[in-house]
Amino acid sequence: MKKIITLDGPAGVGKSSLASALAGRLKLAYLDTGAMFRAIALKLGANAVNLSETELKQSLSEFTFELSGSGAETTLKMNGVAIGEEIRNEEVGTMASKIAPLELVRNALREQQQALGQKFDLVAEGRDMGSVVFPQAPFKFFLDASPEVRAMRRFKQLKAQGKPADLIVLTEQIKTRDAADRNRPIAPLKPAEDAIIVDTGELTLEGVLDVLLKKINQ
Ligand code: DC
Repeated sequence: MKKIITLDGPAGVGKSSLASALAGRLKLAYLDTGAMFRAIALKLGANAVNLSETELKQSLSEFTFELSGSGAETTLKMNGVAIGEEIRNEEVGTMASKIAPLELVRNALREQQQALGQKFDLVAEGRDMGSVVFPQAPFKFFLDASPEVRAMRRFKQLKAQGKPADLIVLTEQIKTRDAADRNRPIAPLKPAEDAIIVDTGELTLEGVLDVLLKKINQ
């Protein structure tokens, strides 16, 4: 069986940076499953939620994903084309959050994620990696931090990029997204029963990485 480490948690907790750093240290591929939802959302467009079941099934059957490389150098391709910065904006994020609760979309992506897990040693990052997609993974981590801490991190990031930011608005956005992710009927955001829960509130990225590596090497 391939080596799989799962990393789940809410938006803005630092999962992506941690998952790619952890994958780099362990020389494993980094599977960014949020990028899969985003890439599909971008391809299907805003009309995706209005497609009939047959149309959606047909479209979903046309997407295949591949992985190469490891750590931050991992490339995730959809239909042979590397997924890049085009998915990293609020508009695509919002479209992805609209298609993510659809059962057909989740089933199609779960199959693809599990197929990648049979081919590659992975750090798989998302919302339901430990609870649904890779329940047999030997190491399952669930990262958490209060909405206020996550909003403050985002606020500092935006300020550092010279972009406008409002801490109160950011905190409200994070709370709304959390509620949607945690309360959806299919694959809600929740730790797997045997997940190790890590509160990242007081820790730097290096600090969290140390905690994860210690658990893995124990
Ligand atoms: O982590 P992210 O912001 O790139 O995720 C984009 C969207 O996809 C977000 O609405 C949550 C959803 N998602 C999901 O439902 N399950 C996953 N395993 C990964 C992401």
